[in-house]
Amino acid sequence: MWNRKIHEAFARRQSTSTVLVIVMAVLLAGGLSLRLTPDAGAHQPASATATPGAVSTDGRFGFGQPATAAQIAAENVDVRPDGTGLPPASGTAAQGQAIYSVKCASCHGDSGREGGTGPILVDSRPFAPGATPKTVGNYWPYATTVYDYISRAMPPNAPGSLQPDEVYALVAYLLNANEIIASDAVMNDQTLPRVVMPNVNGFIPDPRPDVP
Ligand code: HEC
Repeated sequence: MWNRKIHEAFARRQSTSTVLVIVMAVLLAGGLSLRLTPDAGAHQPASATATPGAVSTDGRFGFGQPATAAQIAAENVDVRPDGTGLPPASGTAAQGQAIYSVKCASCHGDSGREGGTGPILVDSRPFAPGATPKTVGNYWPYATTVYDYISRAMPPNAPGSLQPDEVYALVAYLLNANEIIASDAVMNDQTLPRVVMPNVNGFIPDPRPDVP
């Protein structure tokens, strides 16, 4: 009696399992074919439109255009800490403020002290981790790097678009706002390298014992 009941129970479980296995197999097969169908469809148009070896006779790929000498010159800025690479031009803080409010304030704040999408640029208090923000004024070791960076990278939607006079003026504005140069100081390729930044000695010697 017991044996028969157990046998029947097993038989029921087995048939249920068999049905489950079949159902799962069908579902799996359906799933696979569903997965395969869009893939196969996606491949077709690509191979239909691809034209292997479609290189034009001049060796280019048919898009883009050669950079002009002026475009290359605008990007090819390489200003060293000693001023090597600075172009002959000039600007003052007053001129820089006018440019700043039009081209920079939207991201860095009305005076550069506020920040926004871009970082805070003006804070003349000494840099202290966690207490004061890093700014070009209290952190950057060389004034010429401020020129280099703005010239090559700002504003981010039109890098390389600023003329040397404008960059000198913007640097003068930021250095004056950070209380590093006088408001009437003229920044050019001679005066800018002579500006001593407050944190010029802040990077060496490195106090961390694990850094050679
Ligand atoms: C569309 C927003 C935007 C505009 C406009 C813009 N900036 Fe920036 N700026 C940024 C962002 C974002 C960064 C941070 C980039 C990074 O760290 O890679 C930055 C970084 C900087 C830095 C470096 C700050 C630091 O301490 O690391 C300077 C200097 C700077 N900008 C100056 C300018 C000047 C001058 C102008 C105007 C000509 C300008 N920016 C316009 C968004 C902007």
